[in-house]
Amino acid sequence: MSADACAVPVSSRYSRRVVEERDAHAELLADFRAGMLEPPRSLPPKYFYDARGSQLFDAICDTPEYYPTRLEAELLERHADAIVEASGARTLFELGSGTSRKTEYLLAALERRVAAPHYVANDVCGEILDEAGERLLQRFDQLRVDSLCGDYAAALGHLGEVAGARGDGPRLFAFLGSSLGNFEDPEAAALLTRIRATMNAEDRLLLGLDRVKPRPVLEAAYNDAAGVTAAFNLNLLSVLNTELGADFDPEGFDHRAPFVQEYSRIEMHLVARRDQVVQVSEPEARLEIAAGEIIRTEISRKFSREAVDGLLAAAGLEHEAEWSAPEAWYSLFLLRPGAA
Ligand code: SAH
Ligand code: TRP
Repeated sequence: MSADACAVPVSSRYSRRVVEERDAHAELLADFRAGMLEPPRSLPPKYFYDARGSQLFDAICDTPEYYPTRLEAELLERHADAIVEASGARTLFELGSGTSRKTEYLLAALERRVAAPHYVANDVCGEILDEAGERLLQRFDQLRVDSLCGDYAAALGHLGEVAGARGDGPRLFAFLGSSLGNFEDPEAAALLTRIRATMNAEDRLLLGLDRVKPRPVLEAAYNDAAGVTAAFNLNLLSVLNTELGADFDPEGFDHRAPFVQEYSRIEMHLVARRDQVVQVSEPEARLEIAAGEIIRTEISRKFSREAVDGLLAAAGLEHEAEWSAPEAWYSLFLLRPGAA
């Protein structure tokens, strides 16, 4: 989340620029006002990812219960050459790239195919972008990495300013980790539409989505035995304490992650363990939270085929190819912009 100056790897093959459409702090204030002052309380998903949140997410990916990362990594490992080949790209642009670990399969395939591969990474967390950039430059000695620190919309808006990523040749866009599933239909369709509007006719989008599967598998993935996901969820309260001068007591809340069949989604909840009063200095507010009250911190949708097709149609994207894990537990879709 912190977009401000911090150690940028010194290399002529790396750059990071901060891109913001709106002031990030002002946006948090507005989202907090809109979602947290009255029950039912909720917040948008991007505020989890301060430096500690990003580390915790990385640790979630290593838990035995969190299957999406492993399934997506296996698909990428097996099909990266086919994906890169089908895209014809020399530039890979990734939204919400995080540690870029799975991305290495695509970058390796890119390096096998073109002489001067180019990776444009985007994330709200500057620390993780720099760490990933440094690691990638060490592994790929011909790769150029440009990081865009800011949210998805800002990165899409500024992509054209990155030398070599303007779109004078096909680009492969990637949106992995089922991050699209953290948005309800209207926002998800709006984001895909924005991606589609940034793509040229020859660009392709690789979209990784988690699929419907038995409830026990789903619920375990968001409630790992070691408690990493619980710590990640509760860390949101620390982010609010730091950014808004609030006094949330993380001990006052339990982590819950039920699968809600009606919406085909996991919901991440923080449940108040007792009646409590939370003081917030900016915006100045006093929240009275009753025992048992739920703060909804995240949704993670599990897509049926119909849901995928509905979203793609709404956004004007068409199927080019797809690769799925056994029993369609996870899918990668290669998409092209439809005729406008
Ligand atoms: N793509 C990686 C990381 C997924 S976690 C993977 O598949 O494992 C989601 C990532 O997106 C985090 O690194 C988080 O910091 C980033 N993120 C969350 N909301 C974002 C937003 N609105 N704009 C840009 N990045 C965002
Ligand atoms: N995109 C990831 C998902 O929906 C994000 C995620 C994984 C997540 N585990 C989480 C978000 C726990 C909040 C809490 O699977």
